[in-house]
Amino acid sequence: MLWGSVVGKLWATILLLVSFVLIVLTVLLVEFFENFQIENIENDLTKTAEQIIKVTNEHQGSSNEVLQIASELIGNETKMIILNDDKMVFSSIGGDNEFEITPELIKNDPELLKVFTERKTVKKEMALSDDAGNEGLSAIVVGIPLELNGEQDEVFLFQSLESMEETTKSTTQFILLAAGIAIILTTIFAFFLSTRINAPLVKMREAALAIARGKFDTKVPILTQDEIGELAIAFNQMRKQLKFNMNALSQEKEHLSSILSSMADGVITFNKDGTILETNPPAERFLQSWYFEKGYNREDNVNVPLVLMNLFDESESFDKERVGEITLQGRNWGLIVSPLYTNADNIRGAVAIIRDMSDERRMDKLRTDFIANVSHELRTPISMLQGYSEAIVDDIAGSEEEKVEMARIIYDESLRMGRLVNDLLDLAKLESGKMNLSYECVPISPYLKRITSKFSGLAKEKGITISASLQDNQIQWHFDPDRIEQVLTNLIDNAIRHTPPGGNIDVIQRTSDRRGLIIDVRDSGSGIPEEDLPFVFERFYKADKARTRGRSGTGLGLAIVKNIINAHDGYISVNSLPNKGTTFSFILPRIMENAE
Ligand SMILES: Nc1ncnc2c1ncn2[C@@H]1O[C@H](COP(=O)(O)OP(=O)(O)O)[C@@H](O)[C@H]1O
Ligand SMILES: [Mg+2]
Repeated sequence: MLWGSVVGKLWATILLLVSFVLIVLTVLLVEFFENFQIENIENDLTKTAEQIIKVTNEHQGSSNEVLQIASELIGNETKMIILNDDKMVFSSIGGDNEFEITPELIKNDPELLKVFTERKTVKKEMALSDDAGNEGLSAIVVGIPLELNGEQDEVFLFQSLESMEETTKSTTQFILLAAGIAIILTTIFAFFLSTRINAPLVKMREAALAIARGKFDTKVPILTQDEIGELAIAFNQMRKQLKFNMNALSQEKEHLSSILSSMADGVITFNKDGTILETNPPAERFLQSWYFEKGYNREDNVNVPLVLMNLFDESESFDKERVGEITLQGRNWGLIVSPLYTNADNIRGAVAIIRDMSDERRMDKLRTDFIANVSHELRTPISMLQGYSEAIVDDIAGSEEEKVEMARIIYDESLRMGRLVNDLLDLAKLESGKMNLSYECVPISPYLKRITSKFSGLAKEKGITISASLQDNQIQWHFDPDRIEQVLTNLIDNAIRHTPPGGNIDVIQRTSDRRGLIIDVRDSGSGIPEEDLPFVFERFYKADKARTRGRSGTGLGLAIVKNIINAHDGYISVNSLPNKGTTFSFILPRIMENAE
C-alpha cells in the first residue's frame, strides 16, 4: 500500500539515499580516524622509546630503576619490554588479563626480526593472543635497537588498540543515531508531502472517476499554485470541454435518432457478422413480418434477415450498394443495402434502407389494370362495328330490314364508345382534381321533379313507376346542380336498368341537422350480391360480368358518382338485399351561404 503510493516511493528513495550517504560517510570516517590514531600512537610510541633510550643512556649503571620509572611514566596503556637477544632484560607486562609476549614471538615475526639483525627502528600493528591463548587483541608495536651497559639490547613498546576500537564503536553509534533521526525526519517529511502533493492528487483521481461515471459537474479544488495546481486547472478545463463535447454529442445523437425514428423508410444497421445494431419503427415492422413469416419470434432474434445478409455479401464483393425486393405478408418491401466503412477499404457492416412499396405496386397494378380494362371495354364495340360494317359492305344482309338492324347496332355501339370515352374523360378530370364546382342555391323540389320526369318516359316503357318524395318542399341547398344531376342520372339509370317491370323507384329527400341534405335513390330491383357491395364504386366494376350489348353500362358510372360527391365533401353509401332492392344514399353537407 505504502510502496504503491507516490509518497511511499519518495519516502523510500530519500531513506535509501540518506542511509547510503551515512554508510559511506561512516566507513570513510572510521577508516580515517583509525589511520590517524594509529599514526598518532606510533609516533607517540617512537618518541617515548627514544626518550627511554636517551634516559637509559644518561643513567648507565642504574638502568633497572630507570626502566622501572620509565615504564610507570608511560602509563598503563603502554607496555615495554627490553630484550637482549633471546633474554628478557625488562618487562612491564604482568597482572591479570594482559597479553603475554615472549622473545620467541617477537623473533618469529620477520619484520620485528629486523630490529635485531639490521638494527633499525620498526613500527608495526600486530595481533596478540591473551594469556588464555585467544587471538583477538591487536596492538601497535614499536621496536628500537638500544645500547645498554655496552651490550646490544632492543626496546619494544606495545600499545593495545582496545581504546581506539572503543572510539570507533562510539562513532558508529553516533552515526546510527543520526541515521535514526534522519529516518524519523524523512517520515515526517513524507507525511508533509502527502498532504501537499498526494491530497490534491487523490482529489483529482476521485474527480476523474466521478467523470468516468458521467458526473461532469465534479470540480477539482485548486489547493496550490505549483505544477499540481496547474494540473488541477488543466483538469477542470478538460472536464468543462468534455462536458461540452458530450452534450454536443448526445444532442447530435438525439437529433439523429429522432430523425431516424421519424423517417418513413426503415433503417437497419448491422455489423459484419449480421448482428443488428440499430433499427427504427418501420424497420421493426419489416423485421416483425419477416420473422413471423419464417415462424420465429422477433424478440429472440438479433440477426439480420437472410435477404439482407445476401444483399450485404453481394454489396461487399461489388463494393457498392445493392437493391432487392421481397414480398412479406402481402406487402412489398424494397431493400437497399450499402456497406459501411471504418476506413477507406475496411467494411465493418452495412446500412439497409427498407421501403414499403405496397402503394407503389398497387398503383402500378391499377394503371396496368386500367389500361387492360379500357382496351377490353373498347374491343367489344370495335369488333361489333367491324363485323356489322363488313357485313353491310359485303352486302350480306338479305332484306332492307336486316340492313337497318345492322346499322342500328353499329349506331348503338358507337354511342356506347362515345359514352365510354366521355365517362373516361369525366373520371380523369375528377380524379386529377381539376373539376371546378359552380355552387348555386338550388330549390330542391322543382330540381328533383325535373330530373325524375326526365326518366318517366323510359320508366313507363319498362313498366316501372318513378316518384320523388320530399320531407321539406321549400328547402334550398348549395351545390353544383349540373354535377349532382349527373349523379342522380347515373343512380336512376342504374336503378331502371336493374329493376324488373312492375317495380318502383323512389327518390327521397331528407335533411339531418348534423349531416346536411340526404338524398336516397331506392329501387325494388335485383339488388347487388353482398360480396360485390364493397367494390361497386370501383372503376370498371360490374356485378354482371357479361358485357351485354346495347344499353349496358361501362362500369364507370358509380366511380364518377363517388368522385362528384367527394368533391362536394359529401359521402355516398349503398345498402342492398338481393331481389329486394337497392338504396344509394348520398349526403351533401351544409356549406356557408355567400352573403350576396
Ligand atoms: N340499382 C342497382 N341495382 C342493382 N345493381 C346495381 C345497381 N346500381 C349499380 N349496380 C351494379 O353496380 C355495377 C356498377 O354500376 P355502374 O358503376 O353505374 O356501372 P354501369 O352502370 O355502367 O354498369 C353495375 O354493373 C351493377 O351490377
Ligand atoms: Mg351506371
